[in-house]
Amino acid sequence: MILLSVPAGEDSLVHRRHVCSRVIPHSQDSLTNGLELDKIFGRKAPLHVDLGCGDGSFLSMLAERLPDKNFLGIERLTGRIRSSARKIATLDNVRLLQIESSYAVCYLLSSGSVETFYLLFPDPWPKRRHHRRRIVTQDFLNSVHRALVNDGLIYIATDDLGYFRKISQTAHSTPGLATAEIDVELPSSKFGLVFQQKGTPIHWLALRKISPVT
Ligand SMILES: C[S@@+](CC[C@H](N)C(=O)[O-])C[C@H]1O[C@@H](n2cnc3c(N)ncnc32)[C@H](O)[C@@H]1O
Repeated sequence: MILLSVPAGEDSLVHRRHVCSRVIPHSQDSLTNGLELDKIFGRKAPLHVDLGCGDGSFLSMLAERLPDKNFLGIERLTGRIRSSARKIATLDNVRLLQIESSYAVCYLLSSGSVETFYLLFPDPWPKRRHHRRRIVTQDFLNSVHRALVNDGLIYIATDDLGYFRKISQTAHSTPGLATAEIDVELPSSKFGLVFQQKGTPIHWLALRKISPVT
């Protein structure tokens, strides 16, 4: 498990109030007891979570389009949290958390708290010896299932056909998740746009929580 914290120093997010006001600070409690979403957002609203939100392009566009939803962007790299923070600076319904995605899904999001997850272009780790670094595993999908509300969704996109097949196979053997139609038009993420421009096929999968697993 890797926990990443915002570095202190002149250039850190802590010193840049306009950037950091929507970045959830790390505290002992928030990292072990879970996120207090109502406090963090200052309101109750359905939660959408962008896992590995990168530069925040997708997150900011979708949050602007859906002001009645709360959005949480999770990202492990400081530079990308910074870019995301700049993009969401004027959006009241977005918060950012710099942490490892699977840890957040497994330990920080309470059961039945998420309406929709987005996992757009997770690192594919194409070499066989690196496959164990991939985020989508049976345990990860079990955690996603637990965190979703009934009927909640996870959207997954990848340009890597081998990874897509593996994700689909893992999803099919996960109890309580079923393939769903993708009937919404989502904004393009930064990586999505690059792949579109290159003409690279993008493989999409939407999974719906169909039943609670006890
Ligand atoms: C290929 S980029 C895609 C970024 C964005 N979703 C997009 O579509 O433009 C993958 C992103 O996920 C982040 N990432 C990879 N593994 C992660 C993890 N385990 N936890 C949090 N972020 C992660 C990377 O730092 C990177 O920003």
